[in-house]
Amino acid sequence: MVGILVTGGAGFIGSNFAQLVLESSDDRVTVLDALTYAGNRASLAGLDASRFSLVEGSVCDPDLVDRLVAEHDVVVHFAAESHNDNSLRDPSPFIQTNLVGTYTLLEAVRRHGTRYHHISTDEVYGDLELDDPQRFTETTPYNPSSPYSSTKAGSDLLVRAWVRSFGVQATISNCSNNYGPYQHVEKFIPRQITNVIDGIRPKLYGAGANVRDWIHVTDHNRAVLRIIEAGRIGETYLIGADGESDNKSVIELILRLMGRPADAYDHVTDRAGHDMRYAIDSTKLRTELGWSPTFQDFESGLAATIDWYRDNEAWWRPMKQATEARYAAVGQ
Ligand code: NAD
Ligand code: TYD
Repeated sequence: MVGILVTGGAGFIGSNFAQLVLESSDDRVTVLDALTYAGNRASLAGLDASRFSLVEGSVCDPDLVDRLVAEHDVVVHFAAESHNDNSLRDPSPFIQTNLVGTYTLLEAVRRHGTRYHHISTDEVYGDLELDDPQRFTETTPYNPSSPYSSTKAGSDLLVRAWVRSFGVQATISNCSNNYGPYQHVEKFIPRQITNVIDGIRPKLYGAGANVRDWIHVTDHNRAVLRIIEAGRIGETYLIGADGESDNKSVIELILRLMGRPADAYDHVTDRAGHDMRYAIDSTKLRTELGWSPTFQDFESGLAATIDWYRDNEAWWRPMKQATEARYAAVGQ
Protein backbone atom coordinates (compact mmCIF):
# COMPACT_ATOMS: atom_id res chain seq x y z
CA MET A 1 0.00 0.00 0.00
CA VAL A 2 1.36 3.38 -1.09
CA GLY A 3 0.70 6.62 0.82
CA ILE A 4 -0.27 9.53 -1.44
CA LEU A 5 -0.36 13.14 -0.26
CA VAL A 6 -2.89 15.04 -2.40
CA THR A 7 -2.66 18.82 -2.01
CA GLY A 8 -5.80 20.75 -2.91
CA GLY A 9 -7.81 17.54 -2.64
CA ALA A 10 -10.94 19.33 -1.41
CA GLY A 11 -11.15 21.16 -4.75
CA PHE A 12 -12.68 20.04 -8.04
CA ILE A 13 -9.99 17.90 -9.66
CA GLY A 14 -8.24 16.83 -6.44
CA SER A 15 -11.43 15.47 -4.84
CA ASN A 16 -12.21 13.48 -7.98
CA PHE A 17 -8.60 12.22 -7.86
CA ALA A 18 -8.84 11.11 -4.21
CA GLN A 19 -12.05 9.22 -5.01
CA LEU A 20 -10.49 7.55 -8.08
CA VAL A 21 -7.40 6.41 -6.14
CA LEU A 22 -9.47 4.92 -3.32
CA GLU A 23 -11.78 3.15 -5.79
CA SER A 24 -9.08 1.78 -8.07
CA SER A 25 -6.29 0.76 -5.65
CA ASP A 26 -5.58 -0.14 -2.03
CA ASP A 27 -3.46 3.02 -1.61
CA ARG A 28 -3.85 5.44 1.30
CA VAL A 29 -4.71 9.10 0.61
CA THR A 30 -4.12 12.17 2.77
CA VAL A 31 -5.57 15.44 1.48
CA LEU A 32 -3.82 18.66 2.52
CA ASP A 33 -6.17 21.55 1.81
CA ALA A 34 -6.54 25.09 3.16
CA LEU A 35 -10.32 24.94 2.57
CA THR A 36 -10.40 28.33 0.84
CA TYR A 37 -13.66 29.46 -0.80
CA ALA A 38 -12.87 26.76 -3.44
CA GLY A 39 -12.31 23.86 -1.05
CA ASN A 40 -15.24 21.86 0.24
CA ARG A 41 -15.31 19.04 2.81
CA ALA A 42 -18.55 17.85 1.25
CA SER A 43 -16.63 16.86 -1.91
CA LEU A 44 -14.85 14.19 0.18
CA ALA A 45 -17.87 12.89 2.09
CA GLY A 46 -18.23 9.12 2.23
CA LEU A 47 -14.62 8.21 1.40
CA ASP A 48 -13.24 5.09 3.15
CA ALA A 49 -12.00 6.49 6.48
CA SER A 50 -9.62 3.56 7.01
CA ARG A 51 -7.51 4.77 4.04
CA PHE A 52 -8.40 8.46 3.83
CA SER A 53 -7.86 11.58 5.93
CA LEU A 54 -8.14 15.34 5.46
CA VAL A 55 -5.62 17.73 7.00
CA GLU A 56 -6.70 21.37 7.00
CA GLY A 57 -3.67 23.56 6.35
CA SER A 58 -1.69 25.46 3.74
CA VAL A 59 0.93 24.28 1.28
CA CYS A 60 2.75 27.48 2.26
CA ASP A 61 3.28 26.16 5.83
CA PRO A 62 6.81 24.68 5.77
CA ASP A 63 6.60 22.73 9.06
CA LEU A 64 3.27 21.10 8.25
CA VAL A 65 4.35 20.34 4.68
CA ASP A 66 7.64 18.82 5.86
CA ARG A 67 5.90 16.54 8.36
CA LEU A 68 3.28 15.34 5.85
CA VAL A 69 5.79 14.80 3.04
CA ALA A 70 7.93 12.70 5.41
CA GLU A 71 4.91 10.43 6.06
CA HIS A 72 4.05 9.72 2.39
CA ASP A 73 5.58 7.98 -0.64
CA VAL A 74 4.16 10.25 -3.37
CA VAL A 75 3.00 13.89 -3.49
CA VAL A 76 0.46 15.01 -6.10
CA HIS A 77 0.20 18.79 -6.06
CA PHE A 78 -3.22 20.09 -7.16
CA ALA A 79 -3.54 22.97 -4.66
CA ALA A 80 -3.76 26.34 -6.38
CA GLU A 81 -5.73 29.48 -6.80
CA SER A 82 -7.33 28.35 -10.04
CA HIS A 83 -9.65 31.00 -11.49
CA ASN A 84 -8.52 33.55 -14.08
CA ASP A 85 -11.28 36.04 -13.28
CA ASN A 86 -10.31 36.11 -9.59
CA SER A 87 -6.65 36.62 -10.53
CA LEU A 88 -7.63 39.77 -12.44
CA ARG A 89 -9.41 41.15 -9.35
CA ASP A 90 -6.65 40.27 -6.83
CA PRO A 91 -3.45 38.48 -7.88
CA SER A 92 -1.93 38.28 -4.38
CA PRO A 93 -3.19 34.83 -3.26
CA PHE A 94 -2.09 33.45 -6.65
CA ILE A 95 1.49 34.58 -6.02
CA GLN A 96 1.40 33.07 -2.54
CA THR A 97 -0.23 29.69 -3.13
CA ASN A 98 0.88 28.95 -6.69
CA LEU A 99 4.49 30.10 -6.37
CA VAL A 100 5.41 30.03 -2.66
CA GLY A 101 3.30 26.89 -2.07
CA THR A 102 5.03 25.00 -4.89
CA TYR A 103 8.44 26.16 -3.64
CA THR A 104 7.57 24.93 -0.12
CA LEU A 105 6.58 21.49 -1.43
CA LEU A 106 9.67 21.24 -3.64
CA GLU A 107 11.97 21.93 -0.72
CA ALA A 108 10.22 19.22 1.33
CA VAL A 109 10.32 16.55 -1.41
CA ARG A 110 13.96 17.47 -2.00
CA ARG A 111 14.80 16.87 1.69
CA HIS A 112 12.92 13.55 1.83
CA GLY A 113 13.63 12.21 -1.71
CA THR A 114 9.88 11.87 -2.30
CA ARG A 115 8.30 11.27 -5.73
CA TYR A 116 6.42 14.44 -6.78
CA HIS A 117 3.85 15.04 -9.51
CA HIS A 118 3.00 18.62 -10.43
CA ILE A 119 -0.45 19.44 -11.81
CA SER A 120 -0.50 22.33 -14.27
CA THR A 121 -2.47 23.84 -17.10
CA ASP A 122 -2.14 24.35 -20.85
CA GLU A 123 -2.66 28.08 -20.18
CA VAL A 124 1.08 28.40 -19.50
CA TYR A 125 1.51 28.38 -23.30
CA GLY A 126 -0.64 31.48 -23.87
CA ASP A 127 -3.20 31.20 -26.66
CA LEU A 128 -3.57 30.22 -30.31
CA GLU A 129 -5.35 31.96 -33.18
CA LEU A 130 -8.67 30.39 -34.15
CA ASP A 131 -7.32 29.28 -37.54
CA ASP A 132 -3.86 28.16 -36.37
CA PRO A 133 -3.32 24.54 -37.48
CA GLN A 134 -0.81 24.06 -34.61
CA ARG A 135 -1.79 22.77 -31.20
CA PHE A 136 0.24 23.01 -27.96
CA THR A 137 2.97 20.38 -27.52
CA GLU A 138 5.54 19.78 -24.78
CA THR A 139 8.00 22.01 -26.69
CA THR A 140 5.71 25.03 -27.19
CA PRO A 141 7.35 28.12 -25.59
CA TYR A 142 5.79 29.45 -22.38
CA ASN A 143 3.82 32.67 -22.96
CA PRO A 144 1.20 33.08 -20.20
CA SER A 145 -1.36 35.90 -20.34
CA SER A 146 -2.99 36.28 -16.91
CA PRO A 147 -1.87 36.46 -13.28
CA TYR A 148 -3.27 32.92 -12.90
CA SER A 149 -1.45 31.40 -15.88
CA SER A 150 1.78 33.28 -15.17
CA THR A 151 1.93 31.93 -11.61
CA LYS A 152 1.24 28.41 -12.91
CA ALA A 153 4.01 28.90 -15.49
CA GLY A 154 6.36 30.09 -12.75
CA SER A 155 5.54 27.05 -10.61
CA ASP A 156 6.27 24.70 -13.54
CA LEU A 157 9.64 26.38 -14.03
CA LEU A 158 10.46 25.95 -10.33
CA VAL A 159 9.78 22.21 -10.71
CA ARG A 160 12.03 21.97 -13.77
CA ALA A 161 14.82 23.81 -11.94
CA TRP A 162 14.51 21.60 -8.83
CA VAL A 163 14.77 18.50 -11.06
CA ARG A 164 17.84 19.78 -12.84
CA SER A 165 19.66 21.42 -9.91
CA PHE A 166 18.71 19.11 -7.05
CA GLY A 167 17.67 15.84 -8.70
CA VAL A 168 14.10 16.04 -7.40
CA GLN A 169 12.04 13.04 -8.66
CA ALA A 170 9.32 15.03 -10.40
CA THR A 171 6.99 14.89 -13.38
CA ILE A 172 4.70 17.66 -14.69
CA SER A 173 1.39 17.49 -16.53
CA ASN A 174 -0.34 20.36 -18.32
CA CYS A 175 -4.00 19.68 -18.95
CA SER A 176 -6.73 21.46 -20.88
CA ASN A 177 -10.09 22.67 -19.44
CA ASN A 178 -11.80 20.07 -17.22
CA TYR A 179 -15.52 19.51 -16.68
CA GLY A 180 -17.45 17.10 -14.48
CA PRO A 181 -18.87 16.77 -10.96
CA TYR A 182 -17.73 18.90 -7.97
CA GLN A 183 -16.54 21.88 -10.09
CA HIS A 184 -17.05 25.26 -8.39
CA VAL A 185 -19.96 27.29 -9.79
CA GLU A 186 -17.62 30.19 -10.63
CA LYS A 187 -16.30 28.17 -13.61
CA PHE A 188 -17.89 28.42 -17.06
CA ILE A 189 -19.84 25.15 -17.39
CA PRO A 190 -21.22 24.78 -13.83
CA ARG A 191 -22.02 28.50 -13.72
CA GLN A 192 -24.27 28.18 -16.78
CA ILE A 193 -25.90 24.90 -15.66
CA THR A 194 -26.77 26.31 -12.23
CA ASN A 195 -27.93 29.59 -13.80
CA VAL A 196 -30.40 27.68 -15.98
CA ILE A 197 -31.60 25.67 -12.95
CA ASP A 198 -32.16 29.01 -11.15
CA GLY A 199 -33.94 30.63 -14.11
CA ILE A 200 -31.01 33.03 -14.75
CA ARG A 201 -29.86 33.47 -18.35
CA PRO A 202 -26.34 32.04 -19.04
CA LYS A 203 -23.59 34.66 -19.38
CA LEU A 204 -21.28 34.60 -22.41
CA TYR A 205 -18.13 36.74 -22.33
CA GLY A 206 -17.88 38.93 -25.45
CA ALA A 207 -18.87 37.25 -28.72
CA GLY A 208 -18.09 33.78 -27.35
CA ALA A 209 -15.80 32.73 -30.22
CA ASN A 210 -13.09 31.70 -27.71
CA VAL A 211 -12.25 27.99 -27.94
CA ARG A 212 -11.48 25.67 -25.03
CA ASP A 213 -10.36 22.02 -25.34
CA TRP A 214 -12.69 20.16 -22.94
CA ILE A 215 -11.73 16.97 -21.09
CA HIS A 216 -13.69 15.04 -18.47
CA VAL A 217 -12.05 15.28 -15.03
CA THR A 218 -11.84 11.48 -14.71
CA ASP A 219 -9.83 11.24 -17.93
CA HIS A 220 -7.45 13.91 -16.59
CA ASN A 221 -7.01 11.98 -13.36
CA ARG A 222 -6.53 8.62 -15.11
CA ALA A 223 -3.71 10.25 -17.08
CA VAL A 224 -2.14 11.57 -13.86
CA LEU A 225 -2.18 8.07 -12.34
CA ARG A 226 -0.57 6.67 -15.48
CA ILE A 227 2.20 9.34 -15.36
CA ILE A 228 2.89 8.59 -11.69
CA GLU A 229 3.08 4.88 -12.56
CA ALA A 230 5.16 5.01 -15.73
CA GLY A 231 6.15 8.60 -16.59
CA ARG A 232 9.84 9.43 -16.98
CA ILE A 233 11.32 11.64 -14.23
CA GLY A 234 11.88 15.22 -15.35
CA GLU A 235 9.39 14.94 -18.21
CA THR A 236 6.33 17.02 -19.00
CA TYR A 237 3.18 15.40 -20.43
CA LEU A 238 0.32 17.30 -22.04
CA ILE A 239 -3.15 15.93 -21.28
CA GLY A 240 -6.04 16.59 -23.67
CA ALA A 241 -8.95 14.72 -25.25
CA ASP A 242 -9.42 16.50 -28.62
CA GLY A 243 -12.45 18.33 -27.22
CA GLU A 244 -12.24 21.76 -28.87
CA SER A 245 -15.43 23.79 -28.76
CA ASP A 246 -16.20 27.52 -28.77
CA ASN A 247 -17.96 29.02 -25.75
CA LYS A 248 -21.06 30.05 -27.70
CA SER A 249 -21.57 26.45 -28.87
CA VAL A 250 -21.13 25.14 -25.31
CA ILE A 251 -23.79 27.52 -23.97
CA GLU A 252 -26.15 26.58 -26.81
CA LEU A 253 -25.60 22.89 -26.08
CA ILE A 254 -26.26 23.34 -22.34
CA LEU A 255 -29.48 25.22 -23.12
CA ARG A 256 -30.62 22.53 -25.58
CA LEU A 257 -29.79 19.68 -23.17
CA MET A 258 -31.74 21.52 -20.44
CA GLY A 259 -34.79 22.04 -22.66
CA ARG A 260 -34.41 25.80 -23.21
CA PRO A 261 -34.23 27.83 -26.46
CA ALA A 262 -30.63 27.89 -27.76
CA ASP A 263 -30.54 31.72 -27.82
CA ALA A 264 -31.73 32.25 -24.21
CA TYR A 265 -28.40 33.68 -22.99
CA ASP A 266 -26.82 37.13 -22.47
CA HIS A 267 -23.59 38.58 -23.82
CA VAL A 268 -21.67 40.25 -20.95
CA THR A 269 -18.44 42.23 -20.56
CA ASP A 270 -15.50 40.30 -21.98
CA ARG A 271 -12.60 39.15 -19.76
CA ALA A 272 -9.52 41.42 -19.88
CA GLY A 273 -6.74 39.78 -21.89
CA HIS A 274 -9.10 36.89 -22.76
CA ASP A 275 -7.14 34.01 -24.35
CA MET A 276 -8.66 33.12 -27.71
CA ARG A 277 -7.97 29.41 -28.10
CA TYR A 278 -6.35 26.49 -26.29
CA ALA A 279 -5.72 23.17 -28.06
CA ILE A 280 -3.65 20.20 -26.90
CA ASP A 281 -1.68 17.65 -28.89
CA SER A 282 -1.46 14.72 -26.43
CA THR A 283 0.49 12.38 -28.74
CA LYS A 284 3.34 11.94 -26.24
CA LEU A 285 1.02 10.77 -23.44
CA ARG A 286 -0.92 8.49 -25.79
CA THR A 287 2.07 6.85 -27.50
CA GLU A 288 4.53 6.68 -24.61
CA LEU A 289 2.13 5.80 -21.79
CA GLY A 290 -0.78 4.22 -23.70
CA TRP A 291 -3.42 6.60 -22.28
CA SER A 292 -6.61 7.46 -24.14
CA PRO A 293 -9.78 9.22 -22.94
CA THR A 294 -12.80 7.15 -21.92
CA PHE A 295 -15.26 10.08 -22.32
CA GLN A 296 -15.11 10.37 -26.12
CA ASP A 297 -18.42 12.20 -26.50
CA PHE A 298 -18.60 15.72 -25.02
CA GLU A 299 -22.40 15.91 -25.36
CA SER A 300 -23.05 12.79 -23.24
CA GLY A 301 -20.38 13.81 -20.68
CA LEU A 302 -22.05 17.22 -20.44
CA ALA A 303 -25.52 15.64 -20.08
CA ALA A 304 -24.21 13.52 -17.17
CA THR A 305 -22.67 16.64 -15.60
CA ILE A 306 -26.00 18.50 -15.90
CA ASP A 307 -27.70 15.55 -14.15
CA TRP A 308 -25.08 15.70 -11.38
CA TYR A 309 -25.76 19.41 -10.70
CA ARG A 310 -29.53 18.75 -10.77
CA ASP A 311 -29.11 15.90 -8.27
CA ASN A 312 -26.60 17.69 -5.99
CA GLU A 313 -28.10 21.11 -5.40
CA ALA A 314 -27.21 20.88 -1.69
CA TRP A 315 -23.53 20.77 -2.70
CA TRP A 316 -23.49 23.93 -4.86
CA ARG A 317 -26.34 26.02 -3.42
CA PRO A 318 -24.27 27.54 -0.55
CA MET A 319 -21.73 29.01 -3.03
CA LYS A 320 -24.09 30.26 -5.72
CA GLN A 321 -25.32 33.59 -4.44
CA ALA A 322 -21.92 34.97 -3.39
CA THR A 323 -20.39 33.82 -6.70
CA GLU A 324 -23.04 35.62 -8.78
CA ALA A 325 -22.66 38.75 -6.60
CA ARG A 326 -18.91 38.81 -7.38
CA TYR A 327 -19.65 38.59 -11.11
CA ALA A 328 -22.44 41.19 -10.98
CA ALA A 329 -20.04 43.69 -9.37
CA VAL A 330 -17.89 43.64 -12.53
CA GLY A 331 -20.73 43.45 -15.08
CA GLN A 332 -20.36 39.74 -15.79
P1 NAD B 1 -10.08 24.32 -7.38
O1 NAD B 1 -10.02 25.80 -7.25
O2 NAD B 1 -11.40 23.66 -7.55
O3 NAD B 1 -9.37 23.65 -6.12
C1 NAD B 1 -8.19 24.16 -5.55
C2 NAD B 1 -8.06 23.59 -4.14
O4 NAD B 1 -6.82 24.06 -3.59
C3 NAD B 1 -9.18 24.03 -3.19
O5 NAD B 1 -9.67 22.92 -2.47
C4 NAD B 1 -8.49 25.03 -2.25
O6 NAD B 1 -9.05 25.06 -0.95
C5 NAD B 1 -7.07 24.48 -2.25
N1 NAD B 1 -6.07 25.49 -1.87
C6 NAD B 1 -5.97 26.77 -2.31
N2 NAD B 1 -4.94 27.38 -1.71
C7 NAD B 1 -4.35 26.46 -0.90
C8 NAD B 1 -3.23 26.48 -0.04
N3 NAD B 1 -2.48 27.58 0.12
N4 NAD B 1 -2.90 25.35 0.63
C9 NAD B 1 -3.65 24.23 0.50
N5 NAD B 1 -4.73 24.16 -0.30
C10 NAD B 1 -5.07 25.26 -0.99
O7 NAD B 1 -9.11 23.98 -8.60
P2 NAD B 1 -9.15 22.78 -9.65
O8 NAD B 1 -9.95 23.21 -10.82
O9 NAD B 1 -9.48 21.52 -8.96
O10 NAD B 1 -7.63 22.77 -10.11
C11 NAD B 1 -6.69 21.93 -9.46
C12 NAD B 1 -5.34 22.05 -10.16
O11 NAD B 1 -5.48 21.69 -11.53
C13 NAD B 1 -4.76 23.46 -10.15
O12 NAD B 1 -3.36 23.35 -9.94
C14 NAD B 1 -5.07 23.98 -11.54
O13 NAD B 1 -4.12 24.94 -11.95
C15 NAD B 1 -4.96 22.71 -12.35
N6 NAD B 1 -5.74 22.67 -13.61
C16 NAD B 1 -7.08 22.94 -13.58
C17 NAD B 1 -7.80 22.85 -14.77
C18 NAD B 1 -9.30 23.09 -14.79
O14 NAD B 1 -9.90 23.05 -15.86
N7 NAD B 1 -9.96 23.30 -13.66
C19 NAD B 1 -7.16 22.49 -15.96
C20 NAD B 1 -5.78 22.22 -15.94
C21 NAD B 1 -5.09 22.30 -14.75
P1 TYD C 1 -13.26 29.25 -17.22
O1 TYD C 1 -14.15 28.12 -16.80
O2 TYD C 1 -13.08 30.39 -16.30
O3 TYD C 1 -11.86 28.57 -17.59
P2 TYD C 1 -10.51 29.22 -18.26
O4 TYD C 1 -10.50 30.67 -18.01
O5 TYD C 1 -9.45 28.51 -17.46
O6 TYD C 1 -10.53 28.82 -19.69
O7 TYD C 1 -13.79 29.84 -18.59
C1 TYD C 1 -13.88 29.04 -19.76
C2 TYD C 1 -14.24 29.96 -20.93
O8 TYD C 1 -15.56 30.46 -20.73
C3 TYD C 1 -13.35 31.18 -21.03
O9 TYD C 1 -13.14 31.46 -22.42
C4 TYD C 1 -14.15 32.29 -20.38
C5 TYD C 1 -15.58 31.91 -20.71
N1 TYD C 1 -16.62 32.28 -19.73
C6 TYD C 1 -17.83 32.84 -20.17
O10 TYD C 1 -18.04 33.07 -21.37
N2 TYD C 1 -18.81 33.10 -19.25
C7 TYD C 1 -18.63 32.85 -17.92
O11 TYD C 1 -19.57 33.10 -17.12
C8 TYD C 1 -17.39 32.29 -17.47
C9 TYD C 1 -17.15 32.01 -16.01
C10 TYD C 1 -16.40 32.00 -18.41
